[in-house]
Amino acid sequence: MSSNSFIEKTKKYFEDNPVDFITTYYVFDDVDSTNIKAKQIAETEGQDKSFILSRTQQSGRGRFSRQWESPSGGLYCSFILKPDISGDNVTLLPLVAAIAIAKTLRSYGIACMIKWPNDVRVHKKKISGILLESNGNQNRIEYIILGIGINLNISLDQFSTNLTNTTTSVQLELDKKVEYYDFLSLLLAYFEQYYSLFINGEYQMICSEWKILSDTLDRDVKIITSSDHIIGKAVDIDDSGFLIVETQTGKKKKIMSGDCFYFSEL
Ligand code: BTN
Repeated sequence: MSSNSFIEKTKKYFEDNPVDFITTYYVFDDVDSTNIKAKQIAETEGQDKSFILSRTQQSGRGRFSRQWESPSGGLYCSFILKPDISGDNVTLLPLVAAIAIAKTLRSYGIACMIKWPNDVRVHKKKISGILLESNGNQNRIEYIILGIGINLNISLDQFSTNLTNTTTSVQLELDKKVEYYDFLSLLLAYFEQYYSLFINGEYQMICSEWKILSDTLDRDVKIITSSDHIIGKAVDIDDSGFLIVETQTGKKKKIMSGDCFYFSEL
């Protein structure tokens, strides 16, 4: 698809199929990163619930400053969110996005599972990632950028060889391409549904849904955080999306963020 055709087609699609929840659309053909673009927009004009979408990214970013490969055919977007809440539960937002993604993928018959906090995987291979960045402090959040990357209509040869054993796509799982805008519409509808639960403080409902879609609880895990390695059994998540791990000494540790590994996969 040529550069103009993606922008024109997408704008036309949203004109014909507006999503009530979204206040402003920003559509690009190619950007460094939709999260970077969203941050620039948020610093100037960005309204709450703005949506930034790009056909491709040159410097897609993952968690812990990793690269997110963003070839054509993938879905790359970011929301600018300015919820009227304290910083305490913001860490639940990536879980909200993971639920929306998992629900969308499952409605296509893809048996995905969420690995804490927000990796969406199919048969242990990653199909989607979420990157939350926020500006503000614990008492007052100025804005949140919630970025979502989904390996949609991507073939294996579009990824670097080092990713081919650990990554999959919708196209690979279904053995066919899916209609980009149908998929996007469903994703946005699910996101709207679970984001409104979040805004209404229905944190328990979000956690319950996450638990249904996740395969992390009851597993022996190793969590690597910036300052620690924690080994134990994942027993629960709390209202902020923190993972509760029971260590071998019986102590329960709450973990805000980190890389989670399942012992069964090590
Ligand atoms: C991860 O799993 O490490 C998170 C990956 C997040 C990738 C998405 S793609 C759209 C948005 N823009 C970025 O640069 N990153 C996120």
